[in-house]
Amino acid sequence: MGCSCWPGSSSKRSTNKNISKNNSSNKSKPHAQTQASSEDELKVGACETVTKEKVAKDDQLSVDVKKLNLDDEISKDGKANKRAQAFTFEELTAATGNFQSDCFLGSGGFGKVYKGFLEQTNQAVAIKRLDRNGLQGIKEFVVEVLTLSMVEHPNLVKLIGFCAEGDQRLLVYEYMPLGSLENHLYDLPPGQKPLDWNTRMKIAAGAAKGLEYLHVKLDPPIIYRDLKCSNILLGEGYHPKLSDFGLAKVGPSGDKTHVSTRVMGTYGYCAPDYAMTGQLTFKSDIYSFGVVLLELITGRKAIDNARERGEQNLVAWARPMFKDRKNFSRMVDPLLQGQYPVRGLYQALAIAAMCVQEQPNMRPAVSDVVMALNYLASQKYDLTIMSTAPERACHHRQ
Ligand SMILES: Nc1ncnc2c1ncn2[C@@H]1O[C@H](COP(=O)(O)OP(=O)(O)OP(=O)(O)O)[C@@H](O)[C@H]1O
Ligand SMILES: [Mg+2]
Repeated sequence: MGCSCWPGSSSKRSTNKNISKNNSSNKSKPHAQTQASSEDELKVGACETVTKEKVAKDDQLSVDVKKLNLDDEISKDGKANKRAQAFTFEELTAATGNFQSDCFLGSGGFGKVYKGFLEQTNQAVAIKRLDRNGLQGIKEFVVEVLTLSMVEHPNLVKLIGFCAEGDQRLLVYEYMPLGSLENHLYDLPPGQKPLDWNTRMKIAAGAAKGLEYLHVKLDPPIIYRDLKCSNILLGEGYHPKLSDFGLAKVGPSGDKTHVSTRVMGTYGYCAPDYAMTGQLTFKSDIYSFGVVLLELITGRKAIDNARERGEQNLVAWARPMFKDRKNFSRMVDPLLQGQYPVRGLYQALAIAAMCVQEQPNMRPAVSDVVMALNYLASQKYDLTIMSTAPERACHHRQ
């Protein structure tokens, strides 16, 4: 499998986000190489096409808000609630108490994220401050603003605004009080309760709905390209929303089945077909979704180098186990302490297995995944029955 043989020790997308750079088998990726120039074209929906010139980093700054007439693009939409607001750097400095460490929420490939408070609107926000090392961040900043300005769905994180002042680039999002899914699955601090089965299925179904919106309901449809647990943010009641659209690509149109592009994404989540050929399809996202679903079920990371060989890559570990139902109870997250519906587990694993199939055309379409997960999420597992003595359980059934 293409992904399993990649070098690298973390599932995090680093500043060097281009997986193909790390991939020693690059020579087997004709598209990744020959299509490099098409990657230089940044196409976002109906927005204009920007040809990225091969220029020095400072000049790259010119591929920015001004050139894209971003303000115009955004304000074309009459709806005030969809419009991304332009903030001054001063406003965002004030909102975060000068980016003080108390407000620090986490960091990723683009830079640090801080909690902030906007006095004008009485609103808590998350402010992502882009790290200026590397060209990719600038391009992704523009894609993020343009993409999120076009979309609106209860399962997609809302972009409130941005700041593009001097060489500062910041993104202002709605604040998601429960943080990322990653924080609720792994390395839980003492006292933090693990997610129960029902919540896991609710999160999976919500994330699938967000993806369905991008794939099916949006016109033109979008391939997300960066689906992973750290990009699923959680609101009150564990309501999930997809975040980070910096890698999003407009999907193939007409008779085309794929978009050719450099391989980008996060190690462990990237579909093997995309990794090998650079041909991006909607099914690349379905693969990544399958990995997330597997993480939710098993409590194992997509890539975990702390595990013994053979168990480090989640999909490589799970695939042979899918063949026999007898293995299923060994696959489930031990933190669930046996509190899951056996039938529900089988069904959830069956969906995950379909999503991570090697052949992209064998993977289901997102709407089928949504339908199946909606059903699973609606089948509430009664924790009171299983966590009590058997006599009590019998009493419940009468
Ligand atoms: N809107 C938000 N509300 C609350 N917390 C957030 C928000 N956005 C990000 N965070 C926090 O900041 C952390 C870092 O997010 P960020 O997207 O920069 O990195 P990442 O998702 O871990 O990696 P990548 O750069 O590959 O996306 C998240 O894990 C999350 O805990
Ligand atoms: Mg992220």
